[in-house]
Amino acid sequence: HKHLTGIAGLQPWEIGFLLNEAEQWIALNRATAKHDDRLAGLTQINAFFENSTRTLLSFEIAGKRLGMDVVNMHAAQSSVKKGETLLDTTATLNAMKPDVIVIRHDASGAVGLIADKVDCPVLNAGDGRHEHPTQALLDALTIRRRIGRINGTVVTICGDVLHSRVARSNILLLGTLGAEVRVVAPPTLLPPAVERMGVKAYTDFDAALEGTEVVMMLRLQLERMDGAFVPSPREYHHFYGLTRERLALAAKDALVMHPGPMNRGIEITSDVADDIQRSAITEQVEMGVAVRMACLDVLTRSRRGVEGWA
Ligand code: CP
Repeated sequence: HKHLTGIAGLQPWEIGFLLNEAEQWIALNRATAKHDDRLAGLTQINAFFENSTRTLLSFEIAGKRLGMDVVNMHAAQSSVKKGETLLDTTATLNAMKPDVIVIRHDASGAVGLIADKVDCPVLNAGDGRHEHPTQALLDALTIRRRIGRINGTVVTICGDVLHSRVARSNILLLGTLGAEVRVVAPPTLLPPAVERMGVKAYTDFDAALEGTEVVMMLRLQLERMDGAFVPSPREYHHFYGLTRERLALAAKDALVMHPGPMNRGIEITSDVADDIQRSAITEQVEMGVAVRMACLDVLTRSRRGVEGWA
């Protein structure tokens, strides 16, 4: 079996394949009856060691729409709180014979570690600052549907790039598919050698916006900053908040995206976030269910004896 621990290592055709598979689930998700039980009889464990709304619920809904028995392990209510180690927890989950495990963890690389220890495919639902591959896939699907292409599209990712697994996975995916990716942040929130990832780095948001077709805003991840954050949230909003005036500096009809959850009034104003013409934020959530259905279906194919993935 194969895992999905990150975008790194995926070939362009594999990314395109997953996006095409996801596209096929959109109509079912919009129908009244939303079941295609091709994964009936399989068991999916969602092990979440960090909080989530979108990723956890969409993975749960995706698994259920495909007919799987889906169970959620929330670390806060589990024996992790009694001191059980990650590896012991992993062995415990594996002994229950799941067919797929979805993991979110606050430590970068934790998901890769677990993937080596279990007998089924593992999907990364976000690990520390490392990767959030299904987020990048759902973002790419959203861009592809709204703009019509990814190759050559100018995408500016603004905000807390340093702490963001969403930024990292998006930089990898969009770069692989030929987008022009710019990142913009205060110097304190730009990774030191980010340009080695093939992006253009800016500290001036207004300059970065020129010609931008997709503005992807990131949440300030105060929980990863140990209480030390320069500039203050108010200064941050002044220089890096997406307002209607600032959006006017981007290309005509530029698309606004945010992975959520948002800090309204800090990285994005409500009038921009809620603009149904320009903002794709709720569409991103919708695409998340389709992308996760595709990933669950495709990654369990080899154990079901179905062709169509390595
Ligand atoms: N975008 C995202 O990962 O949101 P959650 O933390 O709510 O899952």
